[in-house]
Amino acid sequence: MARRTVLVSANWKMHHNHLEALRYVQQLAALLRVEGVPAGREVCLHPPFTSLRSVQVALESDGVPVSLGAQDCHEEDRGAFTGAVSAEMLARLAVRYVIVGHSERRILFGEGDDLVRRKLDAVLRHAMTPILCVGERLAEREAGEAEERVEAQLRAALDGRDPAVLARVVVAYEPVWAIGTGRTATAADAQTMAKQVRAVVEGLGGATARDGVRVLYGGSVTPENAAELLAGRDVDGLLVGGASLDPTRFHAIVRAGS
Ligand code: PGA
Repeated sequence: MARRTVLVSANWKMHHNHLEALRYVQQLAALLRVEGVPAGREVCLHPPFTSLRSVQVALESDGVPVSLGAQDCHEEDRGAFTGAVSAEMLARLAVRYVIVGHSERRILFGEGDDLVRRKLDAVLRHAMTPILCVGERLAEREAGEAEERVEAQLRAALDGRDPAVLARVVVAYEPVWAIGTGRTATAADAQTMAKQVRAVVEGLGGATARDGVRVLYGGSVTPENAAELLAGRDVDGLLVGGASLDPTRFHAIVRAGS
C-alpha cells in the first residue's frame, strides 16, 4: 500500500487579519524556498473567511506549495442565512480542505452531529476534502468512554457513505482536553486512537476506506512534540492551532522528523 500523504494543517481560528495573513504567507514562503516541503507532505493554511481571498492570491501568484483551507462552512449552498458562508463559495476560492465539526464549533456554537454531517455533505458536494474533527472531553476520557465517544462521532458523520468517498476523507482526532491547553496526548495515545479511528472507518467502508482515510492528531502540537506524534504508524498528519500562528514555528512543525 502506498504511503498516505502526510497533511500538516494550520488552523488559525479567529487570528490574523488579511494584512497579517499576507505577511505570514510571505514569511512562510521564504522559509519554504530554502528547504521546501518535505517529500510526502502537504501543507495547508486555514485562515478566517476574511483572509481567504488574500491568502489564495498570495499563494497562487508566488507559486507557494501550500494548499488553502477553511475553518467551517454552512450546510446550504445559498439562501437567507445572514452571516454564513457556503461550501460553494469556498470552492470558488480554490479552497481544498474544510474543517467540519471542530470541538469549538460543537461546544461554543452548539453544533450537533446532524449538522456536522450536513456540513460534511456540503463539502463533498463541492469536491473539496473535509477534515472531520472528533474527540472526547476530559470527563469522557476519565470515565473510560473516549473510544466510544469518538466512534459515535465518526458513525454519525460517515455511516452510509461510499468507500471511495471515505477513502478521501480526513479525520482529525482532537481530544478536547488537549486543545489550547498545553496538555498534549502522548504519542502512544495519539497512535492508539488513530488506529481505532481507522478500524471504525474500515468497519464502515472496508479496506479501501481503511487504507485511504487520513487521520491527523490535533491538540497542543508544538515544534517540540511534532516529530514524535508523527511517528505513529496511523498518524497521517497534524492539525495545529496555537503553534501555527507563527510562521517560523509552523515551518518547524512542517519539517519535524523529516
Ligand atoms: P491547539 O489547537 O494546537 O491550539 O491546541 C488545535 C485545534 O484546535 O485544532
